[in-house]
Amino acid sequence: MRVIVCENYEEMSKAGARIFAAHVLLYPEAVLGLATGSTPVGLYRELCRMCKAGEIDFSGITTFNLDEYYPISPENPQSYRYFMNENLFDHVNIDKSRTHVPSGMATDPAAECAGYDRQIRAAGGIDLQLLGIGLNGHIGFNEPDGILTTGTHVTALTESTIEANSRFFDSREEVPTRALTMGMETILHARKIVLLANGTAKHPAVKQLLDNTITTHMPATLLKVHPDVTLICDREAYEG
Ligand code: F6R
Repeated sequence: MRVIVCENYEEMSKAGARIFAAHVLLYPEAVLGLATGSTPVGLYRELCRMCKAGEIDFSGITTFNLDEYYPISPENPQSYRYFMNENLFDHVNIDKSRTHVPSGMATDPAAECAGYDRQIRAAGGIDLQLLGIGLNGHIGFNEPDGILTTGTHVTALTESTIEANSRFFDSREEVPTRALTMGMETILHARKIVLLANGTAKHPAVKQLLDNTITTHMPATLLKVHPDVTLICDREAYEG
């Protein structure tokens, strides 16, 4: 795993954005895997700026997001589809029909998940995947457990994640308790992975990511078997 330590959130965001921009420049028809949450907001802001300045072109790009709450409507401001429109898709010249987020409204969520993996395969797989990391080491919504599911699946959120994500909702009771998420196999099939982490709260997770152990009780540690992962973190996440 390559590690890039930046001085602060702004630098981390710009370093990550440069990698995504370079990929979009080199491969105008690339398939990008995207994440939501507070961590990638600065990176998306920078990509929007570069696109507005005419430095990058998203017209041929396809995207697949990691996850979505279930059930949730795409019009709900807390949905990940809404987040992606607000933070990236509405501000760049991407063809929205090429942007994919698992449907939080699917009547058959298991079929939605199987279909999502088929769509990723049909697009040729994910070239560059952006990830954040949960306080408990989750990746996507692959929560710590003795056994993890390989492909995209329906999952129950842990109390720790419901608590952490309640900051985005009016009350804790409004946080959906389930989600649709890419599995660790889907994620590990991405050709390149960029993982962002900032802030002291993420230090324990980053520390375990950089030791020499792997455990499904800390799903991020599975990234250690991938040959092309770049961790970009700020000094707080790196040093605690
Ligand atoms: C988001 C996702 C999650 C977040 C993680 C960190 O699509 O899959 O795994 O990356 O929960 O969230 P933040 O960035 O809000 O700390």
